[in-house]
Amino acid sequence: MAVIVPLNCFAPSTRAASRSSASAPPKPGKFMEPALPFAALTDRTAQIDRIKRMLVEQDAVLVAHYYTDGALQTLADETGGHVADSLEMARFGHAHPARTLVVAGVRFMGETAKILNPEKRVLLVEKDATCSLDDACPPEAFGAFCDAHPDRTVVVYANTSAAVKARADWVVTSAIAVKVVEHLHRQGKKILWAPDKHLGSYVQRVTGADMLLWQGSCVVHERFKAELLADMKQRHPAAAVLVHPEAPAGVVSLADVVGSTTTLIRAARELPHAEFIVATDNGIFHKMREAAPGKVFIEAPSGGVGATCASCAHCPWMAMNSLDALERVLSRGDSEVVIDETVRRRAVVPIQRMLDFAAAQPRTY
Ligand code: 13P
Ligand code: SF4
Repeated sequence: MAVIVPLNCFAPSTRAASRSSASAPPKPGKFMEPALPFAALTDRTAQIDRIKRMLVEQDAVLVAHYYTDGALQTLADETGGHVADSLEMARFGHAHPARTLVVAGVRFMGETAKILNPEKRVLLVEKDATCSLDDACPPEAFGAFCDAHPDRTVVVYANTSAAVKARADWVVTSAIAVKVVEHLHRQGKKILWAPDKHLGSYVQRVTGADMLLWQGSCVVHERFKAELLADMKQRHPAAAVLVHPEAPAGVVSLADVVGSTTTLIRAARELPHAEFIVATDNGIFHKMREAAPGKVFIEAPSGGVGATCASCAHCPWMAMNSLDALERVLSRGDSEVVIDETVRRRAVVPIQRMLDFAAAQPRTY
């Protein structure tokens, strides 16, 4: 039986805990970042020094998502920046006094930073890094959908353009979606949800709210396969299964923990299990290994029969972020996020509503 856990907290099932093997000897994670040869390491160190200097000179702070390259995550941590999920990236960038925010992630993350901080310079490490959810929700078509359902409260996932956010009553991230929809449902509100159909249907199942779903999906999470995951669970009976709710319902139903990237990392650290099957982007393994050294992390199956990728569990747009791209952006000062002021003024309202709501919640995510 599946254990569905709210996105913003996790509670291991007793079944999962009883399968734990915390006393098992530590094994290396299955997913290992490649070691660099000595010469490349020296070049890399020099490059990192140059980037660190530019960050200081430009009064800039690096905010990175968990799916980005491990070297960028380490650099963010070492330079007083932050590595986080979408909600925490927005919070951190908003609160930080730096004049420039450098966002390692995808476009909507940079746009959210700019919407909240119009007075700051916001740079994207990779300006062409989009998101399939954002792409699947063009503002005009979405506007028409909203116009057709004026009786519904419009809740949009953060993975959307500034123009789509400008049409919303609420913006949510995966860390806060259940809480916000629960809150609206308690007030008797009917919801229009966009763009992720899988996250939307998960929130619907957990909250029981009346939700009309836009039919977008994440190209990474959609590929996880329930049937293959069930086989993998049989081969790793002691492993806990961690799933991001952008995955299809069949995959979610096999999870021990369902939640945002932060929730999944916390589960890796705090659950007694020595082994985890993880159904989200494999960039997360960098922080998981840091948080839970010695534990084993296995990618949930995503390729399926006949797939040409060994693992499809890596976002092609997150993968565009690199130290080279970061150095280029800091040297040239291009890749700056610009948002029309009328759109920004509208979009900031539902984002700020989410941040105010999140601030009033106990910090369990
Ligand atoms: P999180 O907010 O959980 O980090 O998710 C963002 C995302 O894009 C997942 O694919
Ligand atoms: Fe978008 Fe999916 Fe990439 Fe996240 S992993 S940024 S939802 S395409």
